Amino acid sequence: MTMRTVYVNGDYLPENEAKISIFDRGFLMADGVYEVTSVLDGKLIDFDGHAKRLARSLDELDMPHPAVLPNLLEVHRELVRLNGIEEGMIYLQITRGAPDDRDFAFPDPEATTPTVVLFTQNKPGLADNPVAQKGIKVISIEDQRWARRDIKTVQLLYPSMGKMMAKAAGADDAWMVEDGAVTEGTSNNAYIVKGNTIITRNLGNEILHGITRAAVLRFAREAQMQVEERSFTIAEAQEADEAFITSASTFVMPVVEIDGAKIGTGTPGSIAGRLREIYLEESRKAGI
Ligand code: PDD
Repeated sequence: MTMRTVYVNGDYLPENEAKISIFDRGFLMADGVYEVTSVLDGKLIDFDGHAKRLARSLDELDMPHPAVLPNLLEVHRELVRLNGIEEGMIYLQITRGAPDDRDFAFPDPEATTPTVVLFTQNKPGLADNPVAQKGIKVISIEDQRWARRDIKTVQLLYPSMGKMMAKAAGADDAWMVEDGAVTEGTSNNAYIVKGNTIITRNLGNEILHGITRAAVLRFAREAQMQVEERSFTIAEAQEADEAFITSASTFVMPVVEIDGAKIGTGTPGSIAGRLREIYLEESRKAGI
């Protein structure tokens, strides 16, 4: 891979020159939050939604807002420009910073400023991903994450384990289940379709409030599809006509198998396909 230019605390640097302290609380405590924003046609998709959720994540954790926060759009755009990104993602992470030593208590925000890191992920063909033509297989696993999944923290060990469990089972991803109901995918929101109705878990602390989810549900309602925001079980999902996931990196991705049971005909459904098209088309128009 060619050397990227990344952003660290105000500087644009070659990726191998960017450095973070060993005392950084993101490293020691997973005391950090992040966002992933996609890029299509060299433009940022749903930037405002990601920026709002980022500010909320910081507030929920009493993390000070870094001084650069109001200028994050410019930083994103500069990284897109410097790295020549046409399609891909921008990863952003903010941690509570690096105090002088390891301590469970939060450092004094006057003395310790947040660490801000951004880097690009170049993914030519992201929108034309051939996987969307055949769909993905998921398994179900217990949701063993902490209870504040509405905050987009960098505590991603359990989701990483979930992806490995899926891989070991010959599947692509895992849907997590709590008290008998699906919460979400390891790094995406989960949906089923019954007739003309799209069913996805209602918002709460149990799931991340997906930015792609908000946009897709808006487009679905505008296209006269019915939307039900409620819990569903794996058994109900296996009986559904269609299933799919959404995220900034997969947009709308059909799910064709859950725990070995084929969904509908076992091929991507027409509603998922249509929502993917609408989402990509509208997002390209609205990209900044
Ligand atoms: N993941 N749920 C979880 C647990 C997620 O990690 C994500 C995003 C989503 C979808 O949110 P959005 O539509 O705002 O991307 C739902 C990102 C893409 C990641 O971790 O790479």
